[in-house]
Amino acid sequence: MPTMPTFADVLRARLSRRRFLTSGLAAAGLGWLGPAAWASSPLGFAGVPASTADALVVPGGYVAEVLYAWGDPISDGPAFKPDASNTVDDQLRQAGMHHDGMRFFPLPAGQTGSTHGLLAVNHEYTDDGLLHPDGMLTWTAEKVRKSQAAHGVSVIEVQMDRDRWRVIRPSRYARRVTAATPMGLTGPAAGHPWMQTAADPAGRTVLGTMSNCAMGYTPWGTYLTCEENFQFYFVNESGSVPALQQRYDINERGGGYRWHEFDERFDAARHPNEPNRFGWVVEIDPFDPSRPPVKHTALGRFKHEGAALAVAPDQRVAFYMGDDARFEYVYKFVSRDPAGPSALEHGTLYAARFDADGTGVWLELAPGQNGLDAGAGFPSQAEICIAPRLAGEIAGATRMDRPEWIAVHPLTGEAYCALSFNETRGQAGRPGPDPANPRADNVYGHIIRWRERGGDPTATRFEWDVFILCGDPASADPARRGDIKGDVFGSPDGLWVDGRGVLWIQTDVSTRLLHKGDYAGMGNNQMLAADPVTREVRRFLTGPRGCEITGATGTPDGRTLFVNIQHPGETPSERSNPATPKGVSAWPEGPAGGRPRSATVVIRRADGGVIGA
Ligand code: FEO
Ligand code: CA
Ligand code: CA
Repeated sequence: MPTMPTFADVLRARLSRRRFLTSGLAAAGLGWLGPAAWASSPLGFAGVPASTADALVVPGGYVAEVLYAWGDPISDGPAFKPDASNTVDDQLRQAGMHHDGMRFFPLPAGQTGSTHGLLAVNHEYTDDGLLHPDGMLTWTAEKVRKSQAAHGVSVIEVQMDRDRWRVIRPSRYARRVTAATPMGLTGPAAGHPWMQTAADPAGRTVLGTMSNCAMGYTPWGTYLTCEENFQFYFVNESGSVPALQQRYDINERGGGYRWHEFDERFDAARHPNEPNRFGWVVEIDPFDPSRPPVKHTALGRFKHEGAALAVAPDQRVAFYMGDDARFEYVYKFVSRDPAGPSALEHGTLYAARFDADGTGVWLELAPGQNGLDAGAGFPSQAEICIAPRLAGEIAGATRMDRPEWIAVHPLTGEAYCALSFNETRGQAGRPGPDPANPRADNVYGHIIRWRERGGDPTATRFEWDVFILCGDPASADPARRGDIKGDVFGSPDGLWVDGRGVLWIQTDVSTRLLHKGDYAGMGNNQMLAADPVTREVRRFLTGPRGCEITGATGTPDGRTLFVNIQHPGETPSERSNPATPKGVSAWPEGPAGGRPRSATVVIRRADGGVIGA
């Protein structure tokens, strides 16, 4: 049975070849990871073909099983009803919808066991066409509450017994955090007048978290859930949407969730500061269900995709964060204090500028820096943290093609960032290509990477390159031609670097685009593995119809991989017809089930070996 090399083994292999001494940068220990890291290709599995089947397909020798689907009880709660007739109270004790980022925390806390632990799982959004028996044909306060209860985060206890993982029920750790759970605020914006509302005049207690997309974790054992498309839940029908709301894409339509009809805090005309209380990084202690979540305003407010950790030599923590919208920025937060429970409360926020010479600058977003002062609308750090999009613009950050997940390579410190796509780059009135976003009409996206100067995550300068331009290398159209070495994909979203240093890439081709036009022949959404050294890419998994693949976390021994299948069965409108819930997909139960369900799946090798090796 193969054994997994430890970080030290791999590092030793690198040192023995002394590749890292060949350049000044590399002398700091941060050369692009050289071939010496691998005796042969780190990708030891047989790739799977692109697929349009309504099935989850993994390589030969691997087994994938559903662990935790929407509606499954978190503990000893009620069972899922296939006609979606579970009540609000049921939903509060069941898995939410649309699983996204997640993280495995071994039990006992702080240990590195691989057979027992907690899974923290995001539930990003809902398809209300599937959430209620008659979808949105009627609309009630009860349905709003169920929708809110299906958002947020799950914490469940999981254990492996005779090679099979199961959810432990009952569990004292089991918990749901929803779009109505009370939570605190810390940092520069806590208590600021822009955070105060009629229900919370102190501006220090928010109800709920939502649009929980990607994630992060801290060295002190907590989970970070990141709020992305919060703007879809708000509606402002006043006819004069304030500039700050406009800059965060709040308008008279919203995203069709219709919460504002029965929960007036989502009426952004009546409660103009309520949107300011979303778009944050939220810290949850998975080991203590009684501890309220906390929103950390020092990390800035935007459409947070995730928060990727890097620990500095002086033990301060840095988090790399994408703002997932067209032409928005990549950010970094560096804590003032060393790693510890209060380290997210104080620190420095930066936005990235990618320069043409392959270097880059972290632009500090603080009063007195980079054109940010009272005259520019930023008398204090609070306003900067609430509106870093405006601050980044003044500072001159680079406008990117939808920054999604960022993953830090555990051996080299290199950060990889998925830029999912931006078909509007180069259109009239929009920015054209730049070195870091080199294609107009960027329909396939790309992956960029950077390494900090001196190998220090607190540095203010970095070097970068484009790791992969997505799309078919054989395309006749130079603007659409990718440089992938291996299996073709587009719309990269989820990224994760495993303990061996393999980069895992998950795709989120919109259901509007799947199988059509530029995406014809590329199959359902998928997960691939890439060798950071050779850039070889191999398709590991394909999902069922209408899903995206997102969220990846492994056990410390590398032998169990958890992946989320999000929104199987999604229609191009993103809201299903309740009369035909299985119109696109019946995964995972198949024809016998009532409707498709997002789910966490467990992937193992039949021989118990290391995933991907
Ligand atoms: Fe929730 Fe940018 O994906
Ligand atoms: Ca995502
Ligand atoms: Ca997505």
